[in-house]
Amino acid sequence: MQNVEQETDIYYQKIANILSCPLTNGEMTYSNDAHRIQQFISNLKDTQELDIAIRHGFFNAANNAFFPIIDHVIVLLPEACFHSIDDYSTNTKTLEVKQFYENYGWNKDKNEEYNDEALYVDSRDISQKYHTTTTERAAKHLQPSGKYMLDVACGPIYQPDYQAFSKNFEKRICIDISMAALQLTKKHIGVDRGIFILGDITNLPLKNNLCDNVVSFHTIYHVPKENQQKAVEELIRVCKNDRDVIIAYNWAWHSWLMNLILLPKKVYNGFKRFYQMYLKSKEKSKQDLYFYAYPPSWFEKQFGNNKHTEISFHCLQSLHKDFIRFYIHKWLFGEKILDGILNLEKNYNKWLGKNGAYPLIVIRKKKKTGIVEINAPMIEGNQL
Ligand SMILES: C[S@@+](CC[C@H](N)C(=O)[O-])C[C@H]1O[C@@H](n2cnc3c(N)ncnc32)[C@H](O)[C@@H]1O
Repeated sequence: MQNVEQETDIYYQKIANILSCPLTNGEMTYSNDAHRIQQFISNLKDTQELDIAIRHGFFNAANNAFFPIIDHVIVLLPEACFHSIDDYSTNTKTLEVKQFYENYGWNKDKNEEYNDEALYVDSRDISQKYHTTTTERAAKHLQPSGKYMLDVACGPIYQPDYQAFSKNFEKRICIDISMAALQLTKKHIGVDRGIFILGDITNLPLKNNLCDNVVSFHTIYHVPKENQQKAVEELIRVCKNDRDVIIAYNWAWHSWLMNLILLPKKVYNGFKRFYQMYLKSKEKSKQDLYFYAYPPSWFEKQFGNNKHTEISFHCLQSLHKDFIRFYIHKWLFGEKILDGILNLEKNYNKWLGKNGAYPLIVIRKKKKTGIVEINAPMIEGNQL
């Protein structure tokens, strides 16, 4: 009979086969050797006293970095691990986005809503059907089942329809830059259903060609403009051949449809902002979270039909949350309007995928991509 610690060790030894070092891209090995870990950490210059005991983690093959496992989360973010590599730095805008989610986005407000949700989603009852139907529509682009579903920048996965994405997969690999998000994710999907990784979308610590499905929802537009191409390339790299990378994006000011319909609101907001400035309002500004949106033509140019990838645009939600909050009300036939919009989205899916508010960008990784050189690791047994 194996005890729990032995089972955990066997489990993480297998996980090592799917990881790659985010600093060197090399192999990783699991270690539960407390003496070696302690020695490695204390030999690093500038290491401060640790206030937690580290029982286990991963060393890279070059033996110049150690990545701890803390409370079932594998810490694979270079700035949060232990290493002796000097020339590594993370984009400051990325660190600001991380701070936003650690300290604010995934805290709950007085209505028990996550601050991120309160800012960016209309969660009134009237729009629930719209959200559920559009998420279910997105799910149709996923493989029906498989071994690994990768969810990059997963957030806390609190929505039942979003949780259901991985119901037919052995494991959901959940990667996020925020520890707060991952701690919540574990609770929401269950520790046994996922592999939880603190990591950066622009430097995924996974081997090539690993995942049956790759999704990244509502995040790439928070990645610094100059790194968005790298983020998408990373998603493609870890996806299996002949499978899809599915991205939920925000066309923002590129959606002329929303620009047109929201014109009255923009005028109204202009006056409101002016009035708030006048009152010296201290309301937290949404601009605190970095945002940059490329147009559809940028995606087509980078990932459009070429010998590596094929791209298609579909409608996730044609309506921006500002539209829903401003125009959709029970007393204004809101339910009927949303039903009508859902019908339009179904019938004009491709057109609204380029002209509505939130598209679903589906990138098919062709068989021989050239982006990928190594095949997915073979892992024996089905414990992973
Ligand atoms: C708007 S939330 C989206 C959460 C989830 N995908 C969803 O659709 O509900 C954005 C998430 O992206 C994460 N994030 C932001 N920048 C990231 C990066 N560079 N790498 C990994 N995760 C990142 C944040 O921590 C946050 O949890």
